[in-house]
Amino acid sequence: TILTNDYRSNYHFSPRENWMNDPNGMVFFKGEYHLFYQYHPFGTTWGPMHWGHAVTKDLITWEELPVAIAPDEHGTIFSGSAVVDWNNTSGFFDGEPGLVAIFTHHLEVPNEQPVQRQSLAYSQDKGRTWNKYEGNPVLGHESIVDFRDPKVFWHEYSKHWIMIIACGQTVCLYRSPNLKEWTLCSEFGEGIGSHDGVWECPDLFPLAVDNDTQTEKWVMIVSIGADPAFKEGSRTQYFIGDFDGSTFVADENSRFVRWLDHGRDNYAGVSWSDIPQEDGRRLFMGWMSNWMYANHTPTESYRGAMTIARELSLETIDGKVTLIQRPARELEQARIPLISLQNVSVKEANTHLKSLQLVSYEIVAKWDSDQSVHFTLRNSSDQQTVVGLDPNQHEVYVDRRRSGIVNFHEHFLGIHTANIHAKRGEQQLRIYVDSSSVEVFANDGEIVLTDLIYPDADANRISIAADNESLILSSLHIYELSPGKV
Ligand code: FRU
Repeated sequence: TILTNDYRSNYHFSPRENWMNDPNGMVFFKGEYHLFYQYHPFGTTWGPMHWGHAVTKDLITWEELPVAIAPDEHGTIFSGSAVVDWNNTSGFFDGEPGLVAIFTHHLEVPNEQPVQRQSLAYSQDKGRTWNKYEGNPVLGHESIVDFRDPKVFWHEYSKHWIMIIACGQTVCLYRSPNLKEWTLCSEFGEGIGSHDGVWECPDLFPLAVDNDTQTEKWVMIVSIGADPAFKEGSRTQYFIGDFDGSTFVADENSRFVRWLDHGRDNYAGVSWSDIPQEDGRRLFMGWMSNWMYANHTPTESYRGAMTIARELSLETIDGKVTLIQRPARELEQARIPLISLQNVSVKEANTHLKSLQLVSYEIVAKWDSDQSVHFTLRNSSDQQTVVGLDPNQHEVYVDRRRSGIVNFHEHFLGIHTANIHAKRGEQQLRIYVDSSSVEVFANDGEIVLTDLIYPDADANRISIAADNESLILSSLHIYELSPGKV
């Protein structure tokens, strides 16, 4: 049975029933954003992986479709990507371009290490049905066991498909003219970045720096698996550098690690393929969970949700090219404006907030001082999630110690803090709250924290705190978010 009030997100994607992890095969084609995902159709914990499938036209309302790709003699279906083969390089299509999925076949072998090899499936009907390529698998590795999660893109300059794939604790880059035959170009990761776990779900794409199309940099995203030695669990790092069609060179050669998200629950995220050029955005979505406790979160009829879709960009902050995340603008269509105040004191703002009882909403707050501001969210007599920005301490945080159900894992309980590098005149917090999550975008996407929370449905009060209640907010907006509006 499907429970209606099962911490079900109102504007985040979650499967109708059963287990979901990584987003897979995200591709835009003929007006639809496709989302495939690691799916276990027969249970609410991780199990033999299939590719589940959903589509959306607006990045808010999703239509769940039947399972797209199921296990076969080569194994279960692990993570991977999908592309539009516009010029039929694969030979799978006849006249019309179609979709090709490139995924990992994971084969359990009795008394031996499992085998991970890459395979293809193609669809001639907008992703509704899939045929597996009879030449599968197309790529294996002779020595590395953890060889998975291929992300493929067309590199126009070299006129080849490029695959970035996790390979133990590095990534490998391959190229192909036809998606079927792959040649190794290079390997990246030795001695750089975090090696706190096995590398997974990489991505590689170019972005303009500071909106200047003349200065392009390449962003590499790499997720790192949970290792019991680290209480952060699974997390995602990124590198910025250059890519010439065969080799990626990172700008900095240090051991300094750059995290994509400073909360605990944004993992295995990658970007959408084939967003039309006239749109030009690089859209990202992650799995809103953490391998440390993913199998134990307190939902019953399903388990797993995705982050909101986010637009990525590169901006120079304190002389350093930095990955910026902002909510995809489509989310604004779900807004129901409830509070809109200008130049209001914290004290006065609280009198307005008293009347609200909300579960799914967005807050946008701005203030022109270096004083700290803290929001108490999903609040009842004994539950609260606190989000704050302290410009003096250069700190943003989410405190979920009293957020509701917290006892399903010893490391769920906690405060997650991030350094805000820049100190600008204006402070800004944009917070997305839903039935079981909070996503914080501080200073216009410079720092992001994504955290799961499990409060009671009636923990729905909001208030603001500051050291001095007379602190003036230059603006405060609160919108209920209702996908029904879209
Ligand atoms: C990342 C991951 C991938 C793998 C998949 C299996 O969360 O471990 O590396 O392909 O999940 O479900």
